Amino acid sequence: MQDEATKAYQSLSGWWDEAGVDVEPMPKLAKAKNGKSDKPIKQQSTALPPANKTLASKPTASRLKEAVKLASDANDLEQLYSTIRNFDAGTLSHSATQAVIARGNPKSYVMLIGEAPGIEEDEAGKPFIGPSGQFLDKMFASIELDEKNLYITNSVFWRPKGNRKPTDEEMQMCLPFVHRHIALIAPKILVTIGANSSKNLLGVDTGITRLRGKWGQYTIENPDGSDSKTTIPVLPMFHPAFVLRKPVTKRDCWHDLLSLQEMLESLK
Ligand code: URA
Repeated sequence: MQDEATKAYQSLSGWWDEAGVDVEPMPKLAKAKNGKSDKPIKQQSTALPPANKTLASKPTASRLKEAVKLASDANDLEQLYSTIRNFDAGTLSHSATQAVIARGNPKSYVMLIGEAPGIEEDEAGKPFIGPSGQFLDKMFASIELDEKNLYITNSVFWRPKGNRKPTDEEMQMCLPFVHRHIALIAPKILVTIGANSSKNLLGVDTGITRLRGKWGQYTIENPDGSDSKTTIPVLPMFHPAFVLRKPVTKRDCWHDLLSLQEMLESLK
């Protein structure tokens, strides 16, 4: 059993690793008297569930329907933020400290979309502020982009407990908010950070190694609901946590940053 648990953990952490997300070490397994138990040793938790969250479970389909309606009802960023903060995303939001939505300048030409908050982001309520976020800041600072001219958000607004992989349903549930977020920011360029964010937004199932550095397109819904559509360029990039772990990818990353800088210059 212990082997199975180890294999399951390795498979999951491999998934995260490929996505470029920080992976926590495997929890220690308790040994029962007969040496066979594989139950994780329980950590003492002092955290209480947030008082304003109903723990009653709703079917995922109804949450998704609700997300679509609520997202399209948000007419400005303030409303969207408040809608997301009050949204009941089931286990995902129940186990998080708070919703993590965005940082940076909403008037930026460039909008970065990462994957999901980690532990530091969950505590602070801001995306990309942990070690990989600090590296992300350095990467973009090298082409003179920082919080004054970048807007940074994620594809999932709550930290999946223990950095587990968000389920497909959870990603789908956040997607209407992500689309609305993009429509309200109306950036000139989108940069998707990491495999999951890139696949999710571009609606493809290609690995990040093949996707990165190749410009794709995203069609922005018009926030006023009219039929006119705007298509913007999307650049998929490696996740900074992945680059930190595989320094050999820094060269590709630098290539992508230069490509972004060039595209930005051409749009000014
Ligand atoms: N990784 C992400 O993709 N987003 C964050 O906010 C932090 C780490």
